[in-house]
Amino acid sequence: MIVAGNWKMNKTPAEAVAFVKELIPKVAGAKAGVVVAVPFTALPGVAGALKGTNIKVAAQNLHFEAKGAYTGEISADMLKGAGAEYVIIGHSERRQYFGETDETVNKKVHTAIAAGLVPIVCVGESRTEREQGVTAEVVRRQVKIALLNVGGDALLSSGLVVAYEPIWAIGTGLTATNEQANEVCGVIRGLLGELYGAGAAKKVCIQYGGSVTASNAKELFAMPEIDGGLVGGASLKADDFGVIANA
Ligand code: PGA
Repeated sequence: MIVAGNWKMNKTPAEAVAFVKELIPKVAGAKAGVVVAVPFTALPGVAGALKGTNIKVAAQNLHFEAKGAYTGEISADMLKGAGAEYVIIGHSERRQYFGETDETVNKKVHTAIAAGLVPIVCVGESRTEREQGVTAEVVRRQVKIALLNVGGDALLSSGLVVAYEPIWAIGTGLTATNEQANEVCGVIRGLLGELYGAGAAKKVCIQYGGSVTASNAKELFAMPEIDGGLVGGASLKADDFGVIANA
C-alpha cells in the first residue's frame, strides 16, 4: 500500500519545505508507504527536511538518456543526487501536453530501474475511450508497452508501481466509482499475471488516481485490487493528504 502525492507544478522550494514539515507529524503513523512527488527545484530541500521520516521523495518525470544535448531535461542520476527515490513516469499530462508515448514511457521505465529509482507508471483511458468501451484494451496496451523487456526479477526488485488514472477523473472532481477503479486495477493485475505469473502480479502495488479526496480515499483503498493512491489536488493540503495517507 503506497499513497503518493503528485504536486504537479506547485510550490517554490521554500514553500515545499514548509509544507512537508507540516505534513511529517500528520502521516508519521501511516501504515501505507507515503511519497511526495515534488517539483525538481524542491527535491534537495524536501529530501533534506524528510531525512529520518517515513515520507519518501519522488520526482515527476525524467529523461531516458543518461546525459547529453537535451536542453531542459533531467537525468536519473541528477534526480538521485537531488534526493529522489521514486519517479512518476507517463502521467497523462505528460502524454497529453508533452508528447510522451508508450514507447518513451518504456524507455524511461528502463532508465529508472537501472538507476535504482522506483517508477510509478501512470496509465488510464480518456472519456471517449471509456464511452467506446475500450478501457481495458487501452490500459492493457499502455501497461504492456511500458513494461516491454522488463523481466520479472526487475519488476519485483525495483518495486515498480502502476497508477491507474482515468484521464476523465484527473482534476475534474469526477472520481471513478469504487467498482470502476477496482475493475480496471484488476485488469492490470490480470495482465501482470499473464506476463509475470499470478504470484508476481499480487506483489505489484497498483494505485488508483483521479480526484481522490479525504472523503473518498478510505472506500477506494478498501477495494481488493487497489493498493493505494496517486493524489493530485488533495495532496497540496496537509490536512487532507494526512487523512488520505492514513486511510
Ligand atoms: P487529482 O490528480 O487528484 O487532482 O485528480 C491526480 C493526478 O493527476 O495524479
